[in-house]
Amino acid sequence: MSMMSIRAATPGDRDAIRQVEEHAFGQAAEAGLVDALIGEGDAVVELVAVEEGQVVGHILFSRLFVQTAGGKVPAVALAPLAVEPSFHGTGIGGALISEGHIRLKLAGETLSVVLGDPAYYGRFGYTHDRAARFESVYHGEALQALAWGDAPEAGLLVYPSAFGSALAA
Ligand SMILES: CC(C)(COP(=O)(O)OP(=O)(O)OC[C@H]1O[C@@H](n2cnc3c(N)ncnc32)[C@H](O)[C@@H]1OP(=O)(O)O)[C@@H](O)C(=O)NCCC(=O)NCCS
Repeated sequence: MSMMSIRAATPGDRDAIRQVEEHAFGQAAEAGLVDALIGEGDAVVELVAVEEGQVVGHILFSRLFVQTAGGKVPAVALAPLAVEPSFHGTGIGGALISEGHIRLKLAGETLSVVLGDPAYYGRFGYTHDRAARFESVYHGEALQALAWGDAPEAGLLVYPSAFGSALAA
C-alpha cells in the first residue's frame, strides 16, 4: 500500500530534487531552472512527495507578476512539476498540484499560470481561456491559468529571470 506523503521542500532535499527533475524530464534543463529559481529567492511554494523516505516527486510555484495598467500584481508560475518515472500514474503529480493550490490559497495567492499539456492541467482547473488575454513570451494553447480570487484577466506576464536563461533553448 502506498505511504506517500507531501511536505514542504527543505534545503536538504536539493540533490534529491535535482535527481527527480532530471529523471522525469530526461535532461538537466528543468533541474537547472529549479536551482536558479531557488537561488534567486523566487520560490513561493515548493513541495516534495516522499515515499519510504525517498523524494519521488517535486513541484515549484515561483513568483510571477502580471503587469497591468494599475500596476504589478503578484501571481505564481507552476514550473516545473516532476515525478520519478517509476512512480508515474499513481496520483503523485495530482497530489502535488492539489496540495500546492491549498497552500497558495492559504497564503493569499489568487492566480497560478502554467505552460503545459491542457489534457493534464485541465484536470486541476487550469484553462487556456483564463490565460488568453495575458501577454506572454510563452503565448499559445499550452499557456493556461487558474484563478481562485480577485486576479487580473489581462496584462503582461513577467516571469522570474531564471525562466529566460533556463528555458530559452
Ligand atoms: C506529468 C507528470 C508530472 C504526471 O505525474 P503523475 O504522478 O504520473 O500524475 P498523476 O498520477 O497525478 O496523473 C496521471 C494521469 O495523468 C495523465 N497524464 C500524464 N501526463 C500527461 C500529459 N502530458 N497529458 C495528458 N495526460 C497526462 C496520465 O495518463 C494519467 O492518466 P490516468 O489518471 O487517466 O491514468 C509526470 O508524468 C512527469 O513527471 N512527467 C515528466 C515531466 C513533465 O512532463 N512534467 C510536466 C511538465 S509541465
